[in-house]
Amino acid sequence: MDRIAITGGARLEGEIAISGAKNSAIKLMTASLLTDEPLRLTNMPRLADTRFLGQLLRRLGVDVDERDGVAGPETVLHAPEVTSAFAPYDLVRQMRASFNVLGPLLARTGHAKVSLPGGCAIGARPVDLHLKALETLGAHIDLHEGYVYAQAPRGLKGAEIDFPISSVGATEHAMLAAVLAEGVTVLNNAAREPELEDLAQCLNAMGALVEGAGTATITITGVSKLHGATHAVMPDRIETGTYAVAAAMAGGEVRLTHTRGDFIQALLDRIEQAGAEVIHANDGVTIKRNGARLRAVDIETDPYPGLATDVQAQFMALMTMAQGESVIRETIFENRFMHVSELSRLGADITVQGGEARVRGVETLEGAQVMATDLRASVSLVIAGLAARGETVVNRVYHLDRGFERLEEKLGACGARVRRLSDSAD
Ligand code: EPZ
Repeated sequence: MDRIAITGGARLEGEIAISGAKNSAIKLMTASLLTDEPLRLTNMPRLADTRFLGQLLRRLGVDVDERDGVAGPETVLHAPEVTSAFAPYDLVRQMRASFNVLGPLLARTGHAKVSLPGGCAIGARPVDLHLKALETLGAHIDLHEGYVYAQAPRGLKGAEIDFPISSVGATEHAMLAAVLAEGVTVLNNAAREPELEDLAQCLNAMGALVEGAGTATITITGVSKLHGATHAVMPDRIETGTYAVAAAMAGGEVRLTHTRGDFIQALLDRIEQAGAEVIHANDGVTIKRNGARLRAVDIETDPYPGLATDVQAQFMALMTMAQGESVIRETIFENRFMHVSELSRLGADITVQGGEARVRGVETLEGAQVMATDLRASVSLVIAGLAARGETVVNRVYHLDRGFERLEEKLGACGARVRRLSDSAD
């Protein structure tokens, strides 16, 4: 199994082009189930997660064609017919977001059998809100032996759905199902993450009528048919935030291009408070840090536009070497501190109580063998490794490959000493 080795101490200087957003791309891919015409997605990231979903969609009857377009990687998805409405455990288990094929399958064919995704390393992550939304749209849902059996033989019907908490996945799922429902659907307390706007734009390009995405109230007027479209996947705001933190950690000057700084404003504000410089540009943002030690800053994760839970681990890595004590509160997932014990192996001084971590900055970290159990936790170890003395080896790189495209190449181009080790003895 591959590992990533980082020799710490190199400053980063250069430019990193940000890829298309993983968490948008995988929802956009499922939209291909809603039409018998081709959906062309440009600015597609090439990641393990998009490959997993491609496998599942192929089983459902979607032709998935990954190509190199003139403007970069693109994927054309075409489902002239949905040949199966069954998403088996083995495929859904590999990636939770595969569960979101349920709504589009139901909308297109009137029935679906999709495996429940189960919990994962960062928390229990139930899907009750997804199922409740589909039921409100008129679906009949039964759960047997780990599977959701859903039926809507006479089609879904528009309705008002009140989400008790903000859920990105449930809001996306309800939107994907409601575009082909009869009548008007209103989503109250909808998630406001930029990925929702991206999905709405794509669906509208396919002929849907979605208004208000990006706000807490989304109105969807159902249409009887959607058509093909071309849509460019939005830039990955978590990848942007990750490299912004990496630049602040290692020092130097890194320009992040093909992205938008405003998508991660809450994080950039904290990076600035910690003492790095943030310069916004039309096509991205530059992070600069010269010499002085960073200061400790407290953070709390929140739904958008608050600070994303998906950059909490990275920011914690940054704080391990800051001056003073930083309090990090995780409010979205109940078990998202698995990186703490691994950061401690590098010499970080962190204590956790419930949803709160206290990070007392140390002057030096020392390279070690580490591993993590999820994507963002793994990359926080790479970030720590950039500033640690000596060599840090991050095991279980498959987590990183799920969500970071060509990580070692992108960091390496800025002068980081990062290499991939292929080693079957993991
Ligand atoms: C999405 O997960 C992202 N994943 C996550 O990124 C991200 O951390 C999260 O949104 C929050 O921003 C994808 O987009 C594929 P939620 P999602 O539904 O949609 C609870 C990464 O590293 N909840 O907004 O699953 C849930 O347990 C991943 O790329 C219910 O209680 O998150 C959590 O506490 C990790 N019932 C809260 O809501 C439900 O039915 C928010 O979760 C659904 C969610």
